[in-house]
Amino acid sequence: MIDVALCPSEIRRFESIDLSGTTAVVFDVLRATSTMITGLEYGVEQFFPVETIDAARALKIKDSSLLLAGERGGLPLEGFDLGNSPGEFKEIRGKSVVLTTTNGTVALHRVRRAKRVYVGALLNLDSLAQALDSEGSTSVLIVCAGTGEDFALEDAVAAGGLVNRLSRNSMSDAAVLVKSLYREASADLLSYLRQSRNGRSLAGIGKAQDVEECARLSVSQTVGVMKGDAVVKLT
Ligand code: MLT
Repeated sequence: MIDVALCPSEIRRFESIDLSGTTAVVFDVLRATSTMITGLEYGVEQFFPVETIDAARALKIKDSSLLLAGERGGLPLEGFDLGNSPGEFKEIRGKSVVLTTTNGTVALHRVRRAKRVYVGALLNLDSLAQALDSEGSTSVLIVCAGTGEDFALEDAVAAGGLVNRLSRNSMSDAAVLVKSLYREASADLLSYLRQSRNGRSLAGIGKAQDVEECARLSVSQTVGVMKGDAVVKLT
């Protein structure tokens, strides 16, 4: 069965649900998961996704070699080394990065007890689908990280793109819905991302380039997976 969690209120309950037989895939297309895929592709060693700014700072106190990255309201955080634009992560090869973002890292944290947790993006959709197919998990939960408390169009489009690529045929109603959305959106993904609430907010703070970067389809073969508390490249 492929199921899809469409918004943050659904994600909250995953903390108390048994996901030990489920493979989870988290999408925060604008931008947390696109940023992680980009970083891993360009040689970032690992990302530690954490929910709060304080948790990120606490990790840095324990290990000063870590880089701190993230955003609130789309903007970089005071005292942090990096923000949350994918392009910032192309030249920090070999580093470990603590990342805290409004929704994406929170969603990852909520499903961390799943049998396997993948990080999804439009950027790596083909490779991600291949990884899931070869794993052969019978229970797949696709998690749309959303924006604040709300549904986010770009995460649902990417979720639909993954459903469209998977060979399993048992789907929840939400999976059928996002698959149809993707078929409608796939002719012009960039327009969909630009018209989304997140796309418009990012353009409003001068980050329209990030939206373009995250709208590229299957340009990366990098698959990100959680190993303990870290997101690493699947080898
Ligand atoms: C999030 O986690 O909510 C996003 O990554 C937000 C952003 O990139 O601005």
